[in-house]
Order: sequence, then structure tokens, then C-alpha cells
Amino acid sequence: MIKREYWNTRLGLILAVAGNAIGLGNFLRFPVQAADNGGGAFMIPYMISLLIIGIPLLLVEWALGRYGSKIGHGTAPAVFDSLWKSKIAKYIGILGVIIPLVVVVYYTYIESWTLIYSTFSLLGLTPSTPVSENPQHYLEPFKNFLVSIIGANSQSSLFLSVPFYTYLFFVVTLLLNLYILYRGVSGGIEKVARFALPAIFVMAIILMIRVFTLSSPDGRNFLDGLGFLWNPDFSALLNPNVWLAAAGQVFFTLSVGFGAILTYASYIKPKDDIALNAVAGASVNEFAEIILGGSIAITASVVFFGIAATSQIASDGAFNLGFMALPAIFANIPFGQFFSFLWFLLLFFAGITSSIALAQPAIAFLEDELGLKRQKAVLILGVFLFISAHIPIFIKGALDELDFWVGTFGLVVFALLEAVIFFWLYDSKKAWEEVTRDNDINLPSIFYYLMKYVAPLILIIILTSWSVQMLPEKMSQHNVNIWIARGFIIFMIVLSIILVKIAWERRKNGRAST
Ligand code: ALA
Repeated sequence: MIKREYWNTRLGLILAVAGNAIGLGNFLRFPVQAADNGGGAFMIPYMISLLIIGIPLLLVEWALGRYGSKIGHGTAPAVFDSLWKSKIAKYIGILGVIIPLVVVVYYTYIESWTLIYSTFSLLGLTPSTPVSENPQHYLEPFKNFLVSIIGANSQSSLFLSVPFYTYLFFVVTLLLNLYILYRGVSGGIEKVARFALPAIFVMAIILMIRVFTLSSPDGRNFLDGLGFLWNPDFSALLNPNVWLAAAGQVFFTLSVGFGAILTYASYIKPKDDIALNAVAGASVNEFAEIILGGSIAITASVVFFGIAATSQIASDGAFNLGFMALPAIFANIPFGQFFSFLWFLLLFFAGITSSIALAQPAIAFLEDELGLKRQKAVLILGVFLFISAHIPIFIKGALDELDFWVGTFGLVVFALLEAVIFFWLYDSKKAWEEVTRDNDINLPSIFYYLMKYVAPLILIIILTSWSVQMLPEKMSQHNVNIWIARGFIIFMIVLSIILVKIAWERRKNGRAST
């Protein structure tokens, strides 16, 4: 068997874990979800979801990962198979490899847009536009700019007409990701996190300070923006859609339910702490999300456009606040080019520390289950990602479809499976012992009840209401584009079933590494 890697230092581990969590979700997805769901109305369900399902399930995933370290396998198929003596356990576990892998396919592509925008901002190639009373008109050149970068102006109903430079920036982004993965857990991921995390915080704080000094001709300032996010609206507690959005965001931002935390946690020593590490990583992530992420895009947009227009911009499209409203605002302030560059560089750094984390479960699968050397594993992953990325790059609507099934629905399903397998199908007493052993802080026993009963029950409620509300509409969509994306997910499931079969055959025969 190949010797497994470990994190070098505790600080490096916490930075890598925070880098895993802090991503496009914090700076792009969170502001859009919050603005689209009523600002202050979103924050109460968000906080409650964080405390009663997010943190408990994060700890579950950490504990599963540390268990993986003990058995020498950092993948969900192996961990599930070892905990639950059922033939199907390992096949259910493949979700913890497929989900992050499919997310990486489109996440890396979005990450490459941030590299295009930061480079273009630096070179002065982003649009400049005069201030206008009408935000829609004001945003028009920026909308056209985004549309041209992602090829959405194509006349074809199936294909996007992506310019060559977009493709090129994607290849560069992919190669950078692969290079970091090739350097390994401590030599690549940990080293990058040590540099990228402080850089993310410095850039975000500079941007936040700049946003706090903005004001509009009609007297709005940052306090209006903060008020929109922080004035609670208790009536939203009765709105199930706001709860669904809040819980979905908590999963996405903490990276819970991807399987990526499980793999990262498998690179700690079998007797190392998980509780303090998990809480520290989550705290850094939440600071980046609600304080920094909540103070840049939403606040700037409220100052410039007002609350109603900001909500509208957010509900018009997931990328509109970050890729249209903010560059439009920066185009109208002194040194705006520099701030625009900084904003997109921040997104790029945040994105890359997450995409390498989402790719690592696949690397771990190739190494730990199929016995491949890291170089070979990275090469195979690179070829796979390069080919697969053509789907979100060139097929209209494929990116959204993949994001719905995998990045939204899939996370909740997998998180539920983790909790159920650990606390119900394995043994709840042993699971709790596994979560609480060798930690540097004691976890109150309320977490036992949250992990065993409360979180799974809430996840079942979330999944049921999602299924009732969204699945009939989703399943009625039948165009070719959508089926290409769905076909890709089905292909991934079939492929991983075959690979798991091969891996377990290999195990039975006790083969050495290749
Ligand atoms: N947690 C990562 C993010 O927020 C995936 O982008």
C-alpha cells in the first residue's frame, strides 16, 4: 500500500481546511442568496441552520475522515464499507467522490472567469460606463461583457459560442489546480493555503473598507447595506423557501456533504483532534462569509442601486451581483480598475483553495483504493476534468443543471447518508465515541442529539419539501441540453460503480500499488 500523506502543521491544516470552505460560495453565492431572500429575512434561518445542522454534520464528516485515517483510506466508499457491514455501503460512498468531482468540473470553469476578469481589469479591458439613474441601463455594458465571455450570445439553442481566450483561461486555471494537486497534500495544498488565506483576508478587508466609504448622490451609505442584511425579519421564519435557501448555503459554504472534508480530515494522524480543528475552520469560514462576504457585494450594490434594485439584480442571475454590479460600481470610482482587479483576484484565490479541495477525494480514491501513485492519479484526473469541462463550457444550461443536482440536491443527500450510516447503521454509541475521542475541546452532549436525531430529521424535511416543490418542474424539462448534463451525472455513477468493483477486487487479491 502507498504511504499516506499527513498535514505538516496544525496551522497549515486549519488554513487548508478554511481554504476548502472559503470559496466562491462566500463571496458570490452568499450575497446573492441573502439579497434574493430578503436580506435580514435570510439571516435568522441561516444562523439556526448553521448551529443545528451545519456544525453537527461538519463534525460528523470530520469524524468519518479521522476514522479513514485510522483505516488508511481517505474516501467515503472505504469508510462507509468499514462502518456498515453491507454490500451496498461502498457503492453509496461513491457519492462522496462523484459529488465533489462533478462540482469541480464547473467550479473550475467559473474560477477561470475570475482570472479573466482580474486580468482584464488590470489591463483596463473591462467596460466603463457613465453613471445612470436606471440600474438596468447602467449594468447593460457589464451584462454584455459577461455574456460575451461565456458565449451566451450564441444563436444556437444548444451550444454556447465561447471565445478562444475564455477557453485558454480555463486551461490555465485547470493546469494551476493540477499542479497544486501534483505537489501533494503538505507540499501543494497546505503550502498554497498558507499563502492564499492571508492574501484573501487582506484583499477582502481592503475592499470592505473601500465599500464602507462609498456613498450615493441621494445619500445612501454602507449603513443602508448593512441594515438590509442585519435588520431581522421574523416573518420569514414561516417561509419554507427561505429555510431551504439558507440550509443549502450553509452546506455549500462549510463544504459539508461534498465528501471533501472527509478526505481532508483523513490526512490528520489517527489520534489528532477534530473538534477544535472543525470549529476553528468553521469560524474562519463564517467570518469570511457573513462579515467579509456580507459587506462587499451587497453593501456596495445597496449604496449604488438601492435595496429593491439589489434584490432584483440578485434574483435575475447568480452571477449578476459579483460579475456585473460590482464591476459597474468600480468603473465609477477613483482607482476602480485596481479595486476590480482586487475583487476578482480575491475570488480567484478563494476559488482555487476550494477547487483543489473538491478534487482531492478523486485523487484519494485513485491512490487509496486503486493504488495509483499521485502523479498518475493527477494525470488521470486532469484528462478527465479537461474533457468533462466541455459540457458546462459549451452546452447551454448545463452548468445550472449540474449545480442543481450535484451542488444543491446532492450535498443534502450525501450529508444525510453520512449521519444515518454513522449514527444509525453503524452504532450511535460508538459513533459518538469516535466523534469525541482525542479532542482538544469537549463537545457538549447536545451534539449527540443534534447528530443522531435533529440534523437527519431536518434534512429529511428539506429533501421532502424540495422534492415536492422542485422535482416535478425539474423532471418536466426534457430538452437535449439538460439531458446531456444529466447523462453526464448518470455516466459518472456507472463509471464509479465499475471502479469501486475493481478496487474491491484488488483489495481481495491484496495487490500492491502501481
Ligand atoms: N465551500 C466552498 C465554497 O464556498 C465550496 O465555495
